[in-house]
Amino acid sequence: MSLTRWATSKAQSAPVAGVPSIAGDAPGTRELRAEAELDEHAVSAAGEDAHERARTHSSEGLQPQNVVVLDYGGQYSQLIARRVRECGVFSTLLPYHVGPEEVARLHPIGLILSGGPASVYDDGAPSLDPRLLDLGIPVLGICYGMQLVARGLGGTVESAEVGEYGRSQLTVHDRGRLLARTPTEQACWMSHRDTVFKAPPGFEALASSTASPVAAIESEQRQIYGIQFHPEVVHTPYGQQVLKNFLLDICGADGTWSARSVIDDQIEKIRIQVGDGRAICALSGGVDSSVAAVLVHRAIGDQLTCVFVDHGLMRKNEADQVIAAFTDYFHVPLVAVDAEDRYLAALKGVTDPEQKRKIIGGQFIRIFEEEAEKLEGVKFLVQGTLYSDVIESGGGTGTATIKSHHNVGGLPDDLEFELVEPLRALFKDEVRAVGAELGMPERMVWRQPFPGPGLGIRIVGGEVTKEKLDVLREADAILQDEIRKAGLYRELWQSFCVLPDIRAVGVQGDARTYGHVIGIRAVTSDDAMTADWARLPYDLLEQIASRMINQIRSVGRVVLDITSKPPGTIEWE
Ligand code: XMP
Repeated sequence: MSLTRWATSKAQSAPVAGVPSIAGDAPGTRELRAEAELDEHAVSAAGEDAHERARTHSSEGLQPQNVVVLDYGGQYSQLIARRVRECGVFSTLLPYHVGPEEVARLHPIGLILSGGPASVYDDGAPSLDPRLLDLGIPVLGICYGMQLVARGLGGTVESAEVGEYGRSQLTVHDRGRLLARTPTEQACWMSHRDTVFKAPPGFEALASSTASPVAAIESEQRQIYGIQFHPEVVHTPYGQQVLKNFLLDICGADGTWSARSVIDDQIEKIRIQVGDGRAICALSGGVDSSVAAVLVHRAIGDQLTCVFVDHGLMRKNEADQVIAAFTDYFHVPLVAVDAEDRYLAALKGVTDPEQKRKIIGGQFIRIFEEEAEKLEGVKFLVQGTLYSDVIESGGGTGTATIKSHHNVGGLPDDLEFELVEPLRALFKDEVRAVGAELGMPERMVWRQPFPGPGLGIRIVGGEVTKEKLDVLREADAILQDEIRKAGLYRELWQSFCVLPDIRAVGVQGDARTYGHVIGIRAVTSDDAMTADWARLPYDLLEQIASRMINQIRSVGRVVLDITSKPPGTIEWE
């Protein structure tokens, strides 16, 4: 079964893994292969210097080869960084305003300038520090990045009469090194109004598109390249090839980085950091804290203790599964605290969502501190901070940040621990790859995000009681079961039930009923910032609703939430 996908602006940015193959709307495959072979010879000689440089860097220390992506505010900047990594090259995303010194400090083997929303002619538009072009490493400007380069080096950039947004046709006049192994006619994805009309002196104009006279430029001598189109989105079928040309041939990357290769590296770093000290990890059952805990346990064994607070707001059987996985399967020392009664007592009579959140978070901190104290001599706190958290908090250059809103209950920042954050450099899908490599069960690795306050914020507008939690848990278990059976679990960002504090009239048998209302919420999303309601098949919805009504006595009605974000949010409160 599959979801019907509606074309929305969000769908356009949906990442799809995999390098485009020579297929689809590409021209004659044989012709292309012959051209590609020719290109291969041409680049291998010219690329020797780059390979030499890359080798030198990688042998200098433990750091993997690194390509810096400077973020000019484009909606696809993170995606560029991820695509680079999919080519087997580690990438670091930095805000555009960091200076060349900051970039050089990372010893990158290449630099990518991202797209951005500004016009190069806007007052205060992000500008290009010319010294970035003189770091002795190849530079690739994408969209706004290319316009900055073109304008900065004496080309002509002007606002065009018509913008070029969406799918466009690229005609390649000269492949150069950047467009090697791609056909002369190809589709590409554009999003710009300012346009390069003339390449800077000394640059070749490699391609044009429907509305861009100059859609790709290169100067082999200066090692500076530019493309107007977005290679990182799936609608540019040869985009990944262009990135590979830049990374592997031009920058000389060896293409051996993978999320998996991070494991050994991290284990070594954790051992050095923690020494023979003791560490503690607040386990939520979610993928980030679980992977972080298992990885740290690999490194320091039983010097790590995990604390799992069962607040009674988890989904059906979830607490037992977490406890079983960590004790029986991973053999990680675990303190499991059954705090259901304590939470229910604290939440009694409370209906305001923010107050619920505060109480749930506050209880968590108290319990965590109590347990940490009992353990004595704990100096390190393991956190599943991800690269996207680091980027969002502006800490791209190494600031330690404690996640607040979206972590387990939100630990306060005055806890006196040194942080161990082995996933700080990874995106979510890379964390899943690490988890799989560590032998973690599929269910854990692919678990959908679940909020820290759990079902507490899914009993909407009403008091959280054990009775309502049990009804919601049963309904949620049916939803998850059916979604999994339909093979849709991984396609959805989140799927869950809510229990609003209302009753609806119904008739069952000959009797009138007045039962709970269950709301179904299922969304697709890349990052939870925006989300689209999932078009679950009607048959599946019918099966879910009928099971809920028949199997849960007090449920009288099932409704479906068809609100996207924005204007709605994913959760109901
Ligand atoms: P909204 O509802 O704001 O949710 O669209 C975006 C993402 O955040 C999760 N979420 C939370 N996570 N504590 C958490 O740990 C919270 O209080 C909280 N509220 C929302 C939500 O599940 C979604 O993934």
